[in-house]
Amino acid sequence: MCQNCKEKFYITTPIYYPSDKLHIGHTYCTVATDAMARYKRLRGCDVLFLTGTDEHGQKIEDKAAAAGVTPQAFVDNIVEGERGILDLWKLMNISNDRFIRTTDDYHVASIQQIFKKMYEKGDIYKGTYSGKYCKPCESFWTESQLVDGKCPDCGREVLDAEEEAYFFRLSKYADRVQDLLENTDFLEPKSRVNEMVNNFIKPGLADLCVSRTSFTWGVPVDFDPGHVVYVWVDALFNYTTALGLYNDKYHDYDKFWPADVHFVGKEIVRFHSIIWPAMLMSMEMPLPKKVYGHGWLLLDGGKMSKSKGNVVDPYILAEKFGVDALRFFLLRSFPFGSDGNFSNELLISTINTDLANDLGNLLSRTVAMVQKYFGGKLPAEQAENAELDAPLIAMAEALRGEYEAQMEKYAFQNGLAEIFKVISRANKYIDENMPWALAKDMEQNGARLARVMYNLLETIRICGALLAPFMPETSEKILSRIGATEYAWDSLATFGVLPRDTAVVAGDALFPRIDAEKALQELEDAAAAAKKATLPDLEIEPYAEETVDFDTFCKSDFRAVKVLACEKVKKSDKLLQFTLDDGTGTPRQILSGIAKYYEPEELIGKTLLAIVNLPPRKMMGKDSCGMLLSSVHTEKGEEKLNLIMLDDKIPAGGKLC
Ligand code: MSP
Repeated sequence: MCQNCKEKFYITTPIYYPSDKLHIGHTYCTVATDAMARYKRLRGCDVLFLTGTDEHGQKIEDKAAAAGVTPQAFVDNIVEGERGILDLWKLMNISNDRFIRTTDDYHVASIQQIFKKMYEKGDIYKGTYSGKYCKPCESFWTESQLVDGKCPDCGREVLDAEEEAYFFRLSKYADRVQDLLENTDFLEPKSRVNEMVNNFIKPGLADLCVSRTSFTWGVPVDFDPGHVVYVWVDALFNYTTALGLYNDKYHDYDKFWPADVHFVGKEIVRFHSIIWPAMLMSMEMPLPKKVYGHGWLLLDGGKMSKSKGNVVDPYILAEKFGVDALRFFLLRSFPFGSDGNFSNELLISTINTDLANDLGNLLSRTVAMVQKYFGGKLPAEQAENAELDAPLIAMAEALRGEYEAQMEKYAFQNGLAEIFKVISRANKYIDENMPWALAKDMEQNGARLARVMYNLLETIRICGALLAPFMPETSEKILSRIGATEYAWDSLATFGVLPRDTAVVAGDALFPRIDAEKALQELEDAAAAAKKATLPDLEIEPYAEETVDFDTFCKSDFRAVKVLACEKVKKSDKLLQFTLDDGTGTPRQILSGIAKYYEPEELIGKTLLAIVNLPPRKMMGKDSCGMLLSSVHTEKGEEKLNLIMLDDKIPAGGKLC
């Protein structure tokens, strides 16, 4: 393992589909990767952290067409536009070294060469594809893989697909891939290995369809126009084209490949642990050292998705609680390898308990006491008390090792738990030593009190530095508040690095306590406002699919009518009762369910349009002879209705033809 060794470490996130704005689930994976990259940098490794966007495929082509823009303009907006993917990673303080877009020219050219290589080798051949295709997942399935006839990943309808296509000889590599999964640590957590082998490999790995002709938004197969490369082939090789494989954009393939770890969500483990190694075997390239399939953040027990309308917006949370608090919450609250249930309540209680109470209080109490008892700077003369000091010092000194053991297993939650055990111990140490009692007699106890403060500051230094991968800005704040200048990896397993006469700096509370009830209400309001903002400004009713023949239409008798009187029908919230001049000399009565849209008085004297040859019907015991015509549409999700008002010059009884 690397230890100040400049050992290289190459880590990746999946590249995200820019088909919608990203949500907290996507943020989870990227924050975890960022924490790992920062941890490795803290250890002195030479890290390359790659993320990016997966921009081709039919889903994007369809969405762009629906939005009336080109696919390129569509993805540009989601990647680079305001509050797009790049903005989100900047906000979340993501320290990626490189960002790849699969529409980048160098990547496209590299993919063409990679595809050709596998074709020339005979591992890609031409055939006819017929099977099932899930458009949202961009995945092909065989009949036997479907669950209740639907996509096994997302549960949506699949389409029948048949077309001339290129195939990759996945079957040829089945045994080698099975061996890789069963007999090495390639795929973790181990629980995912059985699923892959039993569900996908043992039933028989069919060759994989790797080109499409039914749409054009993809990397063209340059030796067979009309075919575009299957989006997963295009996407998976991003991990190598971003290092310069078959292009001149970058030159560190030899240095960084194979990747040390690909972090991926559990639903794309199949692509990364079966298809990806098989294609690399075909290319005779080294395999990544590890694929880690993390769990999902669930909402109310189910997966978040735009189509279910239950996505959580990371912008709202980061703006409300701070970026570091959000990053911390994501990795502290859920074990990385399993699913976790997201809730605003859990977010707030985690911030209040761990950050405001335990960490925040430890820092603010300690700094305040150093200021109060020593004017902000500790005296160099200090008196230890081995019995009282040893337990805290032992825990603080052991922390780096415990933390490292967890971090090396990607067990972020446990790594943080180790830090918080020490923070709790330090809070207890304050109570055991009762500095306020020592301070009553400074002449007698001053040196002892100074040592108690020093031990606390030194514990805070170690904890504060080890928190940096999770909360980079907070860590910096903590270290500068206690006057720490030395917090490199080597210094974190040694107690006593801070100068004895260190000086502290006053500041605001790191994490003010959150009023849960108020914050929850505000979040609910913000989510409702955000949902409303995504609703279309104006929605009109879908047009009728059935036609009406001319003679039937002509049977409808539309007339101009003038409102003589209008009143609310008693005991009804909806009905207005109209007395209308229809030009016959006998007033006509029509009831209309529009009371929520109009006050009766405002309609008197207006010229409206009615259909008058509908059979009379009784409403709330009153006759209604015809129907007034109105227009309906939806504005920002709210139904609107407008009576059709005619020019007052049109006489009552005037027939519309
Ligand atoms: N484009 C592919 C990946 C290609 S990698 C060569 C893709 N993109 S995605 O945008 O749909 O998802 C990217 C990642 O976000 C996946 O790893 C997915 O598991 C993760 N997540 C999406 N929703 C998630 C949660 N609710 N919780 C945790 N991770 C989730 O798949």
